[in-house]
Amino acid sequence: GRERREPMSTNNVWTHKGTFLLAAVGSAVGLGNLWRFPYLAGENGGGAFLLVYALTIFAVGIPILIAETMLGRNSRRSPIMGMRFLTRTHHTSRAWESIGWLGAVSAFVILSFYSVIAGWAIHYTGLMLSGRLIDADAERVAASFDVLLASPPLLALYHSLFIGASALIVGLGVHRGIENGLRILMPALFVILMVVLAYAVMIGDMAAAADFLFTFHLADLSLEGWLEAMGQSFFTLSLGMGAIMAYGAYMSGDASLTGTAFTVAIVDTAVALVAGLAIFALVFGAGLDPAEGPGLMFVTLPLAFGEMPGGTLLGAVFFLLVLGAALSSAISLIEPVAAYLVERFDLSRPQAVSAMVVASWALGLLTVFSFNAWASDSPFHELFGRSPFAVLELLTNIFMPLGGLLIALFAGWVLTHGEVTKEMRTGASWFRVWRLLVRFVAPAAVAFVFLRSIPQVQG
Ligand code: PHE
Ligand code: NA
Repeated sequence: GRERREPMSTNNVWTHKGTFLLAAVGSAVGLGNLWRFPYLAGENGGGAFLLVYALTIFAVGIPILIAETMLGRNSRRSPIMGMRFLTRTHHTSRAWESIGWLGAVSAFVILSFYSVIAGWAIHYTGLMLSGRLIDADAERVAASFDVLLASPPLLALYHSLFIGASALIVGLGVHRGIENGLRILMPALFVILMVVLAYAVMIGDMAAAADFLFTFHLADLSLEGWLEAMGQSFFTLSLGMGAIMAYGAYMSGDASLTGTAFTVAIVDTAVALVAGLAIFALVFGAGLDPAEGPGLMFVTLPLAFGEMPGGTLLGAVFFLLVLGAALSSAISLIEPVAAYLVERFDLSRPQAVSAMVVASWALGLLTVFSFNAWASDSPFHELFGRSPFAVLELLTNIFMPLGGLLIALFAGWVLTHGEVTKEMRTGASWFRVWRLLVRFVAPAAVAFVFLRSIPQVQG
């Protein structure tokens, strides 16, 4: 039979109040925290990046997180259909529907490279288990990473495995089961990160790491660094592209929007900070380069696991947990697009998921070749001044804040006072602060960073 999503039907609303929170944390915590935050902070001088990142999380990210959940819960539809519904019921311009479309494009682009990077974690799970990195020095760990990057077939294989697994989960509709798994996975990941952090304190240089991350010289941040810091704050919260809206569509009516948004942001920031501190302590302890780039996590953490007693097993478990966290994020990238295809074209769930994932898989090959054949000197590189992967990341850094900007404006100016208070049910003063943030502060902040940095981004 055909599964049509019935908006408002009770069995689609999560049974437990906390399930939305769990799913949102599952979407938020992922490679963005462990892989992307440390590598971008490392490339952008540490403290200044962290400052802009943290400011945008709290002044822009949280209000938009509330706004996006609100749009989802209010429309009870997939993002594209939901925005269509909301523009109709509010008799406003159909231009707002671009929120849904832009989100679908973002999801598709992000999934394409997210899956390739997650593939690296598959490789490292195996490397840890093999014991080949026991007592390896920084050079040997780096060499093992270079071997991986040099092989397009291997990268493509892992990419296929990861994206295939994500597709299977969403296609079969078993992601509700995954949510239960998250109850164990998330705390386990945090515990292992704390162990790694403790070990990094012992063998690494935590003073240098703290100095690097917590010395704020805003002037050090390049203009593109501003865009990357803001983009990362949206990326890490899964914000501005429909994932949160799609999950919000299932959120129970009486769960608190504000409490949930703060919890997601705090948990997500904590994971990123612990990962960052551990990685930079190892980087400075081993005399590595913090600006190593996308490989940063993969050339530092194996160093610690290689020295740790029981590190073989612990390292393998760590990379498995990373994969679990990445899977739960990938699911939230596939879900909104698949839900749209089901609602709009009456496809079956497996058909919808296949369509999205096959296209995203193919786009992912651009990232596969970005670390070898097209790394430099390629026609692509000559044309855009960066690798295809870097172009996709740049697009992400623009699309997600742009989507968030539109979401903020819609929730701030189009939703009626009655609708918003019905959703928020908080004190009048926080409501007023929130509305100020989504009406003026968040849009102005995004516009400010765009106007400053985008003209500087040249091919
Ligand atoms: N927030 C996820 C992470 O930090 C990535 C993501 C972005 C997931 C957008 C869904 C949507 O890894
Ligand atoms: Na994140």
